[in-house]
Amino acid sequence: MFNHMASEILHTLEPWSRLDGKIVMVTGASSGLGREFCLDLAKAGCRIIAAARRMDRLGSLCDEINQLNSLMVGGNGDGCLAVAVELDITSDDNAIGASIAKAWDAFGHIDVLINNAGVRAEVGQKRSSLEIGKEEWNQVLNTNLIGTWEVSKCVASRLRFARRKASIINISSITGLNRVQFFGGIAYNSSKSAIDSITRIMALELGGYNIRVNSIAPGLFPSEISGPIFQHDLEILAKKIIPLGTSGAINPALTSLVRYLVHDSSNYVSGNTFIVDFGSSLPGLPIYSSL
Ligand SMILES: NC(=O)c1ccc[n+]([C@@H]2O[C@H](COP(=O)([O-])OP(=O)(O)OC[C@H]3O[C@@H](n4cnc5c(N)ncnc54)[C@H](OP(=O)(O)O)[C@@H]3O)[C@@H](O)[C@H]2O)c1
Repeated sequence: MFNHMASEILHTLEPWSRLDGKIVMVTGASSGLGREFCLDLAKAGCRIIAAARRMDRLGSLCDEINQLNSLMVGGNGDGCLAVAVELDITSDDNAIGASIAKAWDAFGHIDVLINNAGVRAEVGQKRSSLEIGKEEWNQVLNTNLIGTWEVSKCVASRLRFARRKASIINISSITGLNRVQFFGGIAYNSSKSAIDSITRIMALELGGYNIRVNSIAPGLFPSEISGPIFQHDLEILAKKIIPLGTSGAINPALTSLVRYLVHDSSNYVSGNTFIVDFGSSLPGLPIYSSL
């Protein structure tokens, strides 16, 4: 009785706490942010299409979700809340098209696409604009920018044909903002600025088909990409200079916003970049003597 009342209250205050029936495709689901998004959205009742190159990792993620589903109160118990789809977003359009066809057919359509797959280049003074070569530009832009556009194009074309409304969520980065720059970030930062640009352009162009496009710009969160940065004691420093005084965790810092953008409560929200960085990118950070 108490549990039922508590969940009713939560549902009224935060309707996006339940997302039953939504079909969500997450790219880069094999680790880090993408993995956490899949686990959290599955707990909220979504069906998950987990996409990336490392199928072994996707397999264990889907097993975890499907086992959870059979144990969950209200879970449909059919053991199929998540499927894995092999996808290399840098491959040619035929190969991407074939992966998207598998993803679409897995549950019959796609309601939400989370473009999360991405790579980070090496950082630091030795990686400055005078040092890096074209291969690095190609790798970073082919993945973070062109791959993201290509997957969106493929999914949105199907949505337009099927006349289905949808939400596309692009994971950019605070490094894409004008106010955040770092040594060695020329290719990565440019790719993330461009993600915010394609978010606005596609929001404009796809709005008429009832497809919303937004991006999320995370600050620094622990993952495989950011692992080397965390090793440099930056976490301790970050705790001193972050306005909210915490570096937080992917869940709930990012997952709560993702849930909102998946839910129909955000039906009128398109073309935005949502910054989730605990205030760390705000200009005018206080310099404490204890630094
Ligand atoms: N962690 C942070 O602090 C942070 C901050 C701001 C933004 N971001 C962004 O968040 C996103 C996720 O990063 P993360 O931190 O979670 O890093 P991560 O743990 O390294 O995850 C990156 C994911 O992208 C996938 N991926 C890379 N290249 C791919 C390709 N060609 N085709 C398909 N999938 C590919 C990887 O899967 P496979 O290798 O299995 O293909 C992996 O699942 C990235 O776009 C990143 O730029 C992260």
